[in-house]
Amino acid sequence: MNSPAGNIMVTGGAGFIGSHVVRLFVNKYPQYRIVNFDKLTYAGNLTNLSDIEKKQNYVFVKGDITDKNQIHEVFQNYNIDAVIHLAAESHVDRSISSPMDFVMTNIVGTVHLLNAARTFWATPEKREGMRHLFYQISTDEVYGSLGENGLFSEESPYDPHSPYSASKASADHLVRAYHDTYGLPIVISNCSNNYGPFHFPEKLIPLAIMNIRDNKPVPVYGKGENIRDWLFVKDHTKAIDLIFHNALPGKTYNIGGNNEWKNIDLIHLLCKIMDRKLNRTDGTSARLISFVKDRPGHDKRYAIDSSLLQKDLGWEPEVKMEDGLEQTVDWYLSNPEWIQTVTSGSYKTYYEQQYLHR
Ligand code: NAD
Ligand code: DAU
Repeated sequence: MNSPAGNIMVTGGAGFIGSHVVRLFVNKYPQYRIVNFDKLTYAGNLTNLSDIEKKQNYVFVKGDITDKNQIHEVFQNYNIDAVIHLAAESHVDRSISSPMDFVMTNIVGTVHLLNAARTFWATPEKREGMRHLFYQISTDEVYGSLGENGLFSEESPYDPHSPYSASKASADHLVRAYHDTYGLPIVISNCSNNYGPFHFPEKLIPLAIMNIRDNKPVPVYGKGENIRDWLFVKDHTKAIDLIFHNALPGKTYNIGGNNEWKNIDLIHLLCKIMDRKLNRTDGTSARLISFVKDRPGHDKRYAIDSSLLQKDLGWEPEVKMEDGLEQTVDWYLSNPEWIQTVTSGSYKTYYEQQYLHR
């Protein structure tokens, strides 16, 4: 690519949401160069992007956001104009067993990125139509847990309960601090639970699909009474696109599906869909449901008020839960080799074959 209209670094672009963001931006904005910077942890897989990996405006760089030299190299080599920061350790259960990994990537890694942006954008040479922007992709979990009623708004106080949500909350505070202290142009969005293709099968929905398919127990924490607000991943990436291009620096937007489900009701719905898809008698998959020990510090209920985003930028979720789940189940059932690859560790071999010898 000769002279891109903008060089956008997407961190964590080989993960679940990141790969959808990279795909959307690479296909929709051929004038931008998208630099996917990802460490390829167990959760990052380049197979998620095999359909766009040869596009002219796409570059993959294997790297770790906790390594400031690697980040500076990318800013330098690709003249980075803007960052969409998704790289993170993202699984709450892992944060309970290994909190330090979350502190390092989610907090320290974010500060290294902020420092690079601050340094490189100090004497800005902006491209026409492209502004400098550090876009922090965050979570509704920073707000803690709701009771029976109410919604999280952008004004809700931060009250994280897990090492994961505490690390994301810390990162959000630091991103805002760099705006207030150094004038770094930032935006933050806090989104509810995503679901869809390429979701790593340790999270509730893909894990349940995989276990039902394989006739294994489906673990439901506690009594399955906890509530999450689910959003189809492509609705999230549409919001990210709108916010990236239109939000004023310093703004925060909440993104949610207006779609609350008790875990146990969601699992029953999935079981029904799976019975139909696998030609099983109604009720067969539900017999796999297994109530297990609850997650420590398990947040009771999340629900998002995204009216500000609707009012300011006209966004609203388009995909209904029943349709999104149907699409998601179809995708997992027709991509057994993807599940095999990402869960077997054979992926690294694929990476070595495909990229390290280029
Ligand atoms: P994921 O775990 O699927 O992907 C994370 C990606 O980050 C992987 O590709 C991984 O290799 C990469 N990564 C991890 N550590 C890294 C490091 N040190 N350096 C470079 N890359 C590294 O996560 P996800 O579910 O796609 O979430 C992406 C972002 O969105 C996260 O910041 C998460 O907090 C946020 N978020 C997720 C959800 C959700 O429901 N999944 C909802 C709201 C916000
Ligand atoms: O709300 C946004 C967050 O959603 C993101 O910030 C996180 O990165 C993402 O992982 C997700 O966090 P949750 O903890 O809500 O997602 P998870 O899929 O792990 O769990 C969803 C609910 O299901 C939660 O109440 C815990 C429960 N659960 C989870 C698993 C993995 C089970 O009952 N059984 C399980 O096996």
